[in-house]
Amino acid sequence: MKLVVLTGAGISAESGLRTFRGNDGLWENEPIEAVATPEGYFKDKKRVKDFYNGLRTGLPKFKPNAAHFALAKLEEELGNDFLLITQNVDDLHERAGSKRVLHMHGYLNQLRCEKNENHIFDFTGEETLETKCPICGAMSRPHIVWFGEIPLFMDQIEYALQNTDEFVYIGTSSVVYPAAGFKQVAKHCGAHVTCLNLEINPNDPATDTNIQGKATEIVPRWCEEFLQKIKK
Ligand code: APR
Repeated sequence: MKLVVLTGAGISAESGLRTFRGNDGLWENEPIEAVATPEGYFKDKKRVKDFYNGLRTGLPKFKPNAAHFALAKLEEELGNDFLLITQNVDDLHERAGSKRVLHMHGYLNQLRCEKNENHIFDFTGEETLETKCPICGAMSRPHIVWFGEIPLFMDQIEYALQNTDEFVYIGTSSVVYPAAGFKQVAKHCGAHVTCLNLEINPNDPATDTNIQGKATEIVPRWCEEFLQKIKK
């Protein structure tokens, strides 16, 4: 039984990390075009690096929650039959024990080279205009996929969606593509699609099962029930 899970900011909300939309969302205070587009970056690199420095250096004070731990346990039990894709750039899945996390929108704890997008390196400090790529010496940039850029791991993700039995999306508003379209791909290829979210759309044609609630309550329960089901 193959399972693919997609997470969004909602899974980290109860850990204290702000989501992007809705009240007090990150995009309520920071203009997307200034800090989450290539144009904004090349217009004011220091402002953008400082924005992600704040998010990166703030990470240690936020802790993984029961939903992150439940998915890490699922990965341990299912092994290669399980794939976790996240839109999040935080490290809470990793700190909960998840080993294979596809950060399709990038990752705060890495930087990449401005010149060669394959030059990616671990980084947990404060990036400055002097920070250089350790591989070729060019200037670094945040390893974040900005609006207008192509998300990461898309070939691997497409293949997984076309070959999974279950697709579950958790804590995402499903408004940003291509992630928002993953449920259609999975369903079209025969998967059962489940939504676990604080807000649900019961009329969504691509979703077979909607479970409304807070991630720390509904995700551990769903994972436990899934494991019981496949062990029968
Ligand atoms: N439990 C479950 N779901 C929650 C919780 C919670 N405690 N709190 C909020 N949610 C849900 C909200 O109802 C909403 O549907 O999480 C979702 C968060 O939506 P967004 O803030 O839009 O975050 P996300 O869907 O991850 O955004 C996608 O947009 O700006 C880009 O790159 C950014 O990766 C991000 C992408």
